[in-house]
Amino acid sequence: MVQYVIRGGKPLYGTIHISGAKNAAVAILPAALLVDGVCRIENIPEVSDVRLMLNMMEELGAVIRRVNPTTVLIDSRPVRPGAVAPHDLVRKMRASYYIIGAYLSRFGRAQVSMPGGCDFGSRPIDQHIKGFEALGAAVSVRSGFIHTKAAAGKLRGAPIYLDFASVGATINIMLAATLAEGLTVIENAAREPHIVDLANFLNSMGADIKGAGTDIIKIRGKKSLQGGMYTIIPDQIEAGTYMTAVTAAGGEVMLQNVIPKHLECITAKLIDMGADVTELDDAVIVRRLGLLRKANVKALPYPGFPTDMQPQIVACLCCAQGTSMITEGVWDSRFRYVGELKRMGANIEVAGRLAVVQGVDHLTGAPVQSCDLRAGAALIVAALSAPGQTEIDGVHHIERGYEDIVKKLQGVGADIQRAELPDTEAEVLANLS
Ligand code: EPU
Repeated sequence: MVQYVIRGGKPLYGTIHISGAKNAAVAILPAALLVDGVCRIENIPEVSDVRLMLNMMEELGAVIRRVNPTTVLIDSRPVRPGAVAPHDLVRKMRASYYIIGAYLSRFGRAQVSMPGGCDFGSRPIDQHIKGFEALGAAVSVRSGFIHTKAAAGKLRGAPIYLDFASVGATINIMLAATLAEGLTVIENAAREPHIVDLANFLNSMGADIKGAGTDIIKIRGKKSLQGGMYTIIPDQIEAGTYMTAVTAAGGEVMLQNVIPKHLECITAKLIDMGADVTELDDAVIVRRLGLLRKANVKALPYPGFPTDMQPQIVACLCCAQGTSMITEGVWDSRFRYVGELKRMGANIEVAGRLAVVQGVDHLTGAPVQSCDLRAGAALIVAALSAPGQTEIDGVHHIERGYEDIVKKLQGVGADIQRAELPDTEAEVLANLS
């Protein structure tokens, strides 16, 4: 069992280099399955979700070579049309469903088991299926697998209106439409930075995608894409997480390799709370000045405040003066981590999608459990601000999406260790089954 042990209550000083965006990487890597040639992809974060995606692509026949820890060469020419991604890989990661869009586009059929990922309540994929069907695919879910097949072996472009601006559905439909015949128009599309990054990647390989970053995306299908080189954008959420860590613990930290525009809504909220944020060309400097003030936050699709930063900002608000209201506008059930913050002394009440945080003087270190990726990040933020020792279990969730988080925090003076402990009896049994 791996645990993070944090002795908090110390301000952070120094510089952190931000890695490539995890959620862009897990879309761009399977997009390389559409390319009839070799893609060189740079600035890939070294996180377990990315390793899983690359393993899955190798199982499908892609030839992958690591040039260095953050750069891969992917040759998708040998990918097999009838290959099925192994269930034990697919079930571990939500983004494995992007294999469906890529396979449907290139081969006119796909078979992938139902994907896993963080548990925030129900995670339907009806908007993905609606998109595939609009493009002319028959879709059925049988024995835990999604089966899709295009009529006459090829998808045809179509207008698609999404009921909700789903990130995953927008990406999957973009992938499917890239090699379809004719024009696809996605209305009410998601606008997150990684949607734009995926479109830029596909366009640089020869696709014709316009409007990414707005709510109408037009994709004119191409016969094929050719290889090339692409660099993934920096991770907005990783940067935001360290911004909240400095705001909660105090100190002054420069975050290098960021796109300040992607951070604007986080920056604005931290300034409201009393932090100082200076934007440079590709860096931001965050400083904590005195006591924090309450803030109200509503997590919404981009350009709103990101739901993937909601737990971390709550951790930060635990010790702000006054009462803060946080509304979750994307997921049904994303306050499951609140019980762990309460173990550290936070005063938070949750009613459905609303959390009310009454600021306390300080949190105190405690043993806590991370239940998903951003919940784990929030516990780190809280632990860095809290005097005493916090032991965080369930860190495999955190390592799905944060590259070298322990080393990066040690680099700015945090007292954090990654401890490998012997497995408990229950864990040994779980690993055997
Ligand atoms: N939804 C539907 N039907 C669908 C698809 C989505 O009802 O067919 C609903 C969901 O249940 C949810 C909302 O729409 O209530 C948003 O879902 P969305 O499809 O936008 O999310 P996603 O693509 O599954 C991605 C990120 C998440 C992030 C969300 C929202 C990746 C791999 N995951 O998930 O990131 O929370 O967008 O921004 O890109 C994370 O990184 O920690 C993470 C969970």
